[in-house]
Parts: sequence; C-alpha cells; structure tokens
Amino acid sequence: MSLPLRSTRWFGPKDKVGFIHRSWMKNQGHPDHVFDGRPVIGICNTWSDLTPCNAHFRIIAERVRRGVYEAGGFPVEFPVMSLGEPLMRPTTMLFRNLVSMDVEETIRANPLDGVILLVGCDKTTPALLMGAASCDLPTLAISGGPMLNGRFRGRHIGSGTDVYKFSDEVRAGTMSEEEFLEAESCMNRSTGHCMTMGTASTMASVVEALGLGMPGNAAIPAADARRMKLAHEAGRRVVEMVREDLRMSRIVTRKALENAIRVVGAIGGSTNSVVHLLAIAGRLGVDLSLQDWDRLGCDIPCIVNLMPSGRYLMEDFYYAGGLPAVIRELGGVIHRDALTVNGKTIGENTADAPCHDRDVIRTLAAPLTPTGGLAVLKGNLCPDGAIIKPSAASPELMRHRGRAVVFENIEDLHDRIDDPDLDVEAGSVLVLKNCGPKGYPGMAEVGNMPLPSKLLQQGVTDMVRISDARMSGTAFGTVVLHTAPEAAAGGTLALVQDGDIIELDVGERRLELDVPEDELIRRRTRWSPPEPATDRGYCRLYVDHVLQADRGVDFDFLVGGSGAPVARDSH
Ligand code: FES
Repeated sequence: MSLPLRSTRWFGPKDKVGFIHRSWMKNQGHPDHVFDGRPVIGICNTWSDLTPCNAHFRIIAERVRRGVYEAGGFPVEFPVMSLGEPLMRPTTMLFRNLVSMDVEETIRANPLDGVILLVGCDKTTPALLMGAASCDLPTLAISGGPMLNGRFRGRHIGSGTDVYKFSDEVRAGTMSEEEFLEAESCMNRSTGHCMTMGTASTMASVVEALGLGMPGNAAIPAADARRMKLAHEAGRRVVEMVREDLRMSRIVTRKALENAIRVVGAIGGSTNSVVHLLAIAGRLGVDLSLQDWDRLGCDIPCIVNLMPSGRYLMEDFYYAGGLPAVIRELGGVIHRDALTVNGKTIGENTADAPCHDRDVIRTLAAPLTPTGGLAVLKGNLCPDGAIIKPSAASPELMRHRGRAVVFENIEDLHDRIDDPDLDVEAGSVLVLKNCGPKGYPGMAEVGNMPLPSKLLQQGVTDMVRISDARMSGTAFGTVVLHTAPEAAAGGTLALVQDGDIIELDVGERRLELDVPEDELIRRRTRWSPPEPATDRGYCRLYVDHVLQADRGVDFDFLVGGSGAPVARDSH
C-alpha cells in the first residue's frame, strides 16, 4: 500500500487550484504523467560562482535528475543561498542559520515528498542538514567531493593548511613573495572543496557516518567520474526512500550522532563539527551535549593520516579505501546497527570495506596519534566549556602556565601582532576577545591567530592561543576555541587583562584565569558589552537570538523541528 504523498495535495485535485499548480509547472515542458502521483523530489542546490567549492553542482544535479526519473520520481531543482568560505564577509557562519531557514521554509512551502541536499563548502553542509532536519522528510545528502591534491614544485600541498604555513614562512623571511604567489595556482586546481581534512571533508565524513549519504560519499574526488555515479544512484535511491517513508529522524538518531562523533575523532576532524552536530541534534530533538564530545570522542585514536594532523590529502584517502575502511577498522566502537539511507545498516555497508594503504588509513593498534578527538575544557575562564584539538596541538604546550597578551578584537590583533615593541615571549598566552557568535558577529575562524613576527623569526612555531572564535578545520596549533560564554556576552574572557596568568591543563581538562574572585567582580562592574556591528536586519536578529557555542550557535527559536505539514493554499 503506497503512502499518501504531500505533493498530491498540490498536483492531485482536478479543480481550479490543481489546474494552477499543474499548468504553471507545464510551462517548463513537463508532460501530464509527471503529475500522476509519483514522488516529487527536491534537489536543493547550493551552486554559485561565488562558492568555488560548489561551482560544479549543476552537473551533479543533472545526474541526480537522471536517477530520480529512472526510479519513477519527478525531480525539481531549487536554489538556496550559498555560502562560499573564501569570499564571504564577515564570516559564512553568520549566515549558516539563515540558509537553514531558507532550506526549511522552501521545503515546507512546496510540493516535495523527498529531498536531495547538494552540499560541499564548509557551512553549506550543516545549513542544509539543519533545515532539512526541521522538516523531517526522506532526505539524502550528496557531498560535492574534494579537489584533487595540490601540487607545488614537486610536492603535495593542502588547501588551507599550506596557506598558513606559507604565510608564516613569508613573514619569517624563509619564502619569497614570488614563490608564495606561484603557489596560488597550484593549490586549488580542480573542482571540489578543500582536500585537507578541514571542515568540508569532516562534514562530508559526518554525512556518511550519520548514514545520510551513500557509502563512499566522503572521499570520492569531485573530478572523479565515480562522484557522478554516486549522484545518479542517490537520485534513484531517494525515490525508494519516499516509498519506504524513511525519514531523516529514522537515520539521524542518537546512535548515528554518537557514530559521527567517534568518526570525527578517528579522522582527526575539524573542531567546527562540534557546533554543527549540536545544532543538527537540536533540530531533531536529540539530546546531545558538549560533554558528549569529550566522553565519546576524545580517546578515539586518529587513524587517518591527513593534513592538518598528518601528511596526506583526500585524494589519497579515497584511493586508500575512504571512510568505509575507517568505519570497518573502528569495529565495535561504532553502533553497527545504525540505519543508513541505502536501507542497510552502517555495519552492513562497511563489513567488507578494504584498506589499500595502511600508511594513509592506520589501524587502531598503530594509530597516527593516540587521541584524535576533541577535549572539552572547563574552568573559570570557560564555565560553559571550551574545546581544543589535541592532535593538532604541540604536546609540550598541553600543560602550560603563561602571561596573557590580550587583544580586544580582531582589528586590535592585526594592528599590534607584528609590532616589534609588543610585550610578548614564547611562553606568553595570546588572548583574543569579541570574536564569538554575538561579538564578531558570527564566530569567525580567527582563533588560530598568527604568531608575532618577532617570535617567528626566533624560530617559535606554536603558542597557546585562547579565544571565543572558531578556527578553520585546516588549521593547527595549541588553540583553545569556542570559549563560552563569549566575551561579548559577558564571559570571563571579557575580563582578562595583559599580564594575567592563565593555566591550561588539557590532561585535567582545565582552563583557569589565575586572578582572585574579588578582582574579577571588580572588573565585571566596570565592563560593558561592545557596540553591536549593526542594529538592523538579519544581523540584529542574529545577535538577539543566537545561542552560545555549547548550544551549537543555532537560534533559540529554531531548536526543535516542526515537520512538514501542508499549509493552507494561496489561491
Ligand atoms: Fe570551501 Fe574550504 S573553502 S571547503
């Protein structure tokens, strides 16, 4: 017995309203039979020339269409706002929630029975997953795939990771400007997203680990024909999912989210996945907390040897076996009975997954680093938590006491970081304020602040850095992020002054500001929040309603889904 489809409320009636719905769609040349009650599949496309990582998505959408038609569905492609990491200011994260609203309302307002999400560049993945989760239709995500390996003067270079290295080398005087500019054309040389294990690759892996993508989704390069094959097959499959009523909430369960956290640890994934998974869980009503990241993921060994934690890139990862090989290696650490979009469990999908290169995908017995996940810190400097990625940090700095060098905002940092008179030494702790959700606004990726030039020239390669910002998934260093509450919301971070002693102990999960409580109270009475960047429009809505990092940086009014009921008609 087939289920009643949402789309029949639009295309089924033989009255005036049905006429209007069918007739205007027919101006695209659709024949009568596509309105005969078959599943209507929305292809949610984040294609944009301004989002280079997703610039090939119209080709992927065409392959999805083929699959949908083949399986007896009716594909309809629709655009949503796209978020291009390299170009957007002040930060794409400011717009993640806006896109999620665009996705949610577009799905709910239209005659859709199932959805394919085309995701790629960093924020496009969580934004589309959040919006679709709120509607809870049968949903399948397809990642656009990573770029081919960067190649520069005979060696592999990784997007993002090597930009930071090259930039520091230029500032230290060990790389010429000519070489630096030559590297530009060598780094990003094909379609696709960043090919390091940055946020895009991490979120593509999360899509696969959650069971929301087809097996192999995470790693097939964008330029590899097998990415198109996957899109074609996904188009076929989503039609079946509608017939099986296999909704997103049956896939993205607590078990699936726990699997994703563990996979992020095993791949040495991006710190940004924390806020995104917390927000996705919130939309589905699954109780997931910041502490779950430490409890479930921190002790997972990192077994994927990819930049920024290791040396290879996503193309190598695919040839080595990709995420299925990782999930197989994780064995009982993973809930193997979690259901995935192809109708099989994640255990069934990965039972025979081969590994072709043990230097790229290690074993649990001989990992790249003993811990790959994220440590959640607590202390008076971050009462609601902060995170650090131990595998990207310097072991000798994981326990450190140092004197704070404070920057009040990002402009202050840029103005003074290279000042030869800056009172800083290798053991100092760099503190950056007002870069959190409300403060920037949008919680920009500036937490891996540059080291002072004069220390770089002395050969210093890492320092403890603390902020309420995020950092790019392609970045590295002993960097404490997502300090909550943030400075602009009156967190203790706002009260730190030059010369204060800060103590970090990752093993003990502690981050303390060593200043007496009565002095902190005195400082708080003198504190006032920074002026907001604007008091109108979307930015105003954002600052008024955004939650802190430990709650996923979603809007307070978007937590909890509302399904996809069919609203009253407009005619
Ligand atoms: Fe788009 Fe890195 S800039 S994924």
